[in-house]
Amino acid sequence: MQIVKHINALRKIIDGKREEGLSIGFVPTMGALHPGHLSLVDLAGQQSGFVVVSIFVNPTQFNDKGDLERYPRDLQKDIDLLAPSACQLVFAPETDEIYPESDTRQFNFGTLEEVMEGKFRPGHFNGVAQVVSRLFEIVQPDKAFFGQKDFQQLAIINEMVRKLSLPVEVIACPIIREDDGLAMSSRNMLLSAEQRLNAAHISATLFEAVNKIGEFSVENLCSWVIERINQNEFLNTEYFEIVNSVTLLPVKSWDEPCVKVGCIAVHCGKIRLIDNIEFK
Ligand code: PAJ
Repeated sequence: MQIVKHINALRKIIDGKREEGLSIGFVPTMGALHPGHLSLVDLAGQQSGFVVVSIFVNPTQFNDKGDLERYPRDLQKDIDLLAPSACQLVFAPETDEIYPESDTRQFNFGTLEEVMEGKFRPGHFNGVAQVVSRLFEIVQPDKAFFGQKDFQQLAIINEMVRKLSLPVEVIACPIIREDDGLAMSSRNMLLSAEQRLNAAHISATLFEAVNKIGEFSVENLCSWVIERINQNEFLNTEYFEIVNSVTLLPVKSWDEPCVKVGCIAVHCGKIRLIDNIEFK
């Protein structure tokens, strides 16, 4: 596994692999890797000839400075985790390499960026689009792998690829969970032992909720989820919405003919956790 910090070196290697006839699979990450990330690398390995993983904590997608400062960073540990995986090249650039000058591009994703995370993290998805489009430009992957854990991010990336007609296939990968159900996240390691234990109440409530479709209207089930999670003194729900998986707009009735996904953001102390589940 090669580790590269500069675009020129990366390009040389990738051009060589392409000349050998290998397809390029790409997994963008911000590091602090866990089995959720590694599942993406694994899928990339199954579907591509050469797998590139980027590790870059992108400053433009953090609307909260404290969150950016707190974000866990341990490159050596990440490299050790990737070494036995399908990853063949790690791209770990400094900020100047990605943004030689500040990125002033403004994307317009319409309502996709205004709802849920967009409402509570202004500018976040613009930053995600900036970095992912930049990384796509640099790596020029055939396929790029993203987790459904960040459901809205996936919708934004799909829309960006469509709008810019980028020659990359976006592959959606399932959410990987801890044994107690908590969706794996780099932020979980910032939780105290007590917070970590209680954080499992989020997914437990979502799992219960999917079995209650027959009992409640959409609106009442949303209230039920929020109340139940907030009963836990460690947890404070920012939003829970059951949305159309394509438009991300709230559904009003179970009869609407679309895939429905319940998306949630919860504060556990200073740490903000997100999760989602399909209602079917
Ligand atoms: P990061 O949070 O490091 O996540 C990198 C990728 O791993 C994302 O596609 C995310 O959805 C996926 N992922 C994280 N936890 C997962 C889990 N439990 N199960 C399945 N997939 C999971 O998302 C980002 O970084 C950044 O916004 C990025 C796209 C790299 C742009 O900076």
